[in-house]
Amino acid sequence: MAQAIAHPNLALIKYWGKTNFKHNLPSTPSLSITLNNLTTTTSVQIQTELSKDQIFLNDNLIENHKIISFMNQIRKLSKKNVFTVIKTKNNFPTAAGYASSASGFAALSLACNQEFQLGLSPKELACLARDGSGSATRSLSSGLVAWKPGNCENSFGYQILPAHDVPLAVFSFKNTDNAKAVSSTKAMEQVRKSSPYYDAWIKSTTSDFNKSLKFIKNHQWVDLLKLAEINAFKMHATMLSSQPPIIYWEPQTISLIKRIQKTRQEKNLIAYISIDAGANIKLLTLQSQVPKIINTFQDLSYTISLPGEGAKLID
Ligand code: PMV
Repeated sequence: MAQAIAHPNLALIKYWGKTNFKHNLPSTPSLSITLNNLTTTTSVQIQTELSKDQIFLNDNLIENHKIISFMNQIRKLSKKNVFTVIKTKNNFPTAAGYASSASGFAALSLACNQEFQLGLSPKELACLARDGSGSATRSLSSGLVAWKPGNCENSFGYQILPAHDVPLAVFSFKNTDNAKAVSSTKAMEQVRKSSPYYDAWIKSTTSDFNKSLKFIKNHQWVDLLKLAEINAFKMHATMLSSQPPIIYWEPQTISLIKRIQKTRQEKNLIAYISIDAGANIKLLTLQSQVPKIINTFQDLSYTISLPGEGAKLID
């Protein structure tokens, strides 16, 4: 049996749009921060008597076509026609509002590499995780992680700065329990096909990504967070301009956006907003500002994350 852990990541510059669906090749470069205290633990065990994979999520037997087609790829790669028991657990409450696919496929790739003795290099492993779920390629690495467009072999997540050199913190607010109505893959495709702003999004995100690398190099952390907020709203603008429009936000999302914008001005807080394909808000800040943010949002429930390590095998 092989077992691995991985953390989710939050994109500061978003991956939104694919040039290839089978391999999740992105049309935009992206930049993310791996989050320390939210963890997915996944074990994979080959069991020769099985005739299909058995997948347990938080102890419940589930059917998941993404995992099955990923395991088919592993069987092909390893030339071993065997099935497995996969047990995966998330320690993070749904309150965090994170999709577990990034940490899930990062941990699964690592565990499969070991259990099927694939012998993949870190780059090959990051490409394999990307095939499972695009953003998973970034969860293999620690701290700040970049991922550029390219082909199957050269488009993968790689570390820009290790976790201990990144002075940022992320608050994940729980706004709503509503499951998202449109998957990110479906939404990306709808945007690509119908938003008149799609080409502008790719162009301007490529420029945001290049700016973000400069900000990191010069330790301009507040500039980086401001840029992350702008980039997240631009991503949502592509959805609003698609046909039919995709609106992930709930009324609570908008009221928290307004509250963060108002309080940061009144209290001079470093507090910027990021929102993925869902209704929950992430607040981006500096670690030195954490006590102030806690003080300001005492009435809300949230999880605080610091920069985290990449995926690793465990005993
Ligand atoms: O990897 P996916 O298919 O879950 O897509 C992730 C898309 C966003 O979370 C919205 C942006 C990102 O870069 O993580």
